[in-house]
Amino acid sequence: MRIAIVTGASSGMGSEFVREIVKVHREIDEVWALARHRDKLLELVKKYGIKVRPMPVDLTDEKDINFLKQTLAAENPSVSLLVNSAGLGIIGNIAEVPIEDTLSMIDLNIRALTEVTVSVLPFMKRGGRIVNLASSAAFMPQTGFGVYAASKSYVLSFSRALGMELRPRGISVTSVCPGPVKTAFFNTAEKHRKSPAWKERFMADPRAVVHLAMKDAYNRRELSVYSPSMKAGAVLMKILPHSFLLNVMQAFKTIW
Ligand SMILES: NC(=O)c1ccc[n+]([C@@H]2O[C@H](COP(=O)([O-])OP(=O)(O)OC[C@H]3O[C@@H](n4cnc5c(N)ncnc54)[C@H](OP(=O)(O)O)[C@@H]3O)[C@@H](O)[C@H]2O)c1
Repeated sequence: MRIAIVTGASSGMGSEFVREIVKVHREIDEVWALARHRDKLLELVKKYGIKVRPMPVDLTDEKDINFLKQTLAAENPSVSLLVNSAGLGIIGNIAEVPIEDTLSMIDLNIRALTEVTVSVLPFMKRGGRIVNLASSAAFMPQTGFGVYAASKSYVLSFSRALGMELRPRGISVTSVCPGPVKTAFFNTAEKHRKSPAWKERFMADPRAVVHLAMKDAYNRRELSVYSPSMKAGAVLMKILPHSFLLNVMQAFKTIW
């Protein structure tokens, strides 16, 4: 049994990954769709058929992570593809965001992604692929989104190191680093403060971002960056000093 595991499958890019896998990657027998909302996972089964196996779990709850580990141990599947899409961001200055919200980002974006990946690895064979949802926020610190950006820098750094370590095993790791994408992400992100208006103008379509991410993962690329503007941004963030960019960012914030 060759399977794909997709976390954050109930919404946004995660559900687009499920769609793309079912429609395009017929070599995969089953897609384990993980997220908390059972109803939304069942909708995926209705849409894409019984190839989708709903697995309602809260990845920040150790019991649920253990359930995933036990299911893997009991069924011993061959995991061809792992997509870590579950993630959340909450906009606001670090001192202003309630600490529970800050820790929820760290728990899901860092801790859960790491534990899911390490738990799945023993079930991946040569040729396997891991797709980790980082963000363009991974490329440099971001005021007003500091913990989220730091958590995504972790995802990018973790993925690069892991990709190198797994090379001898023939398993590749692709970090997906889009700019803003039109999903329910912003419903949670804007719980304390609105996003800057410019983000609306750069919003990408989740299906297009996921399509490119899958193409890049199948070509075993280390990085998947959607859209020319984000690609240009990534280059600028590589060559310009981050202290300079942070000052520019801060100056723009006084104008928003
Ligand atoms: N949208 C953007 O602008 C953007 C840009 C760059 C990167 N990203 C990253 O891309 C990934 C996908 O984001 P998205 O835009 O598709 O957001 P989304 O529509 O809000 O999806 C987030 C997914 O994570 C799941 N999730 C949240 N908390 C969870 C928990 N405790 N346990 C298990 N699953 C949980 C949610 O499902 P349940 O609520 O059912 O649990 C949902 O399926 C995230 O890692 C995000 O950081 C997003």
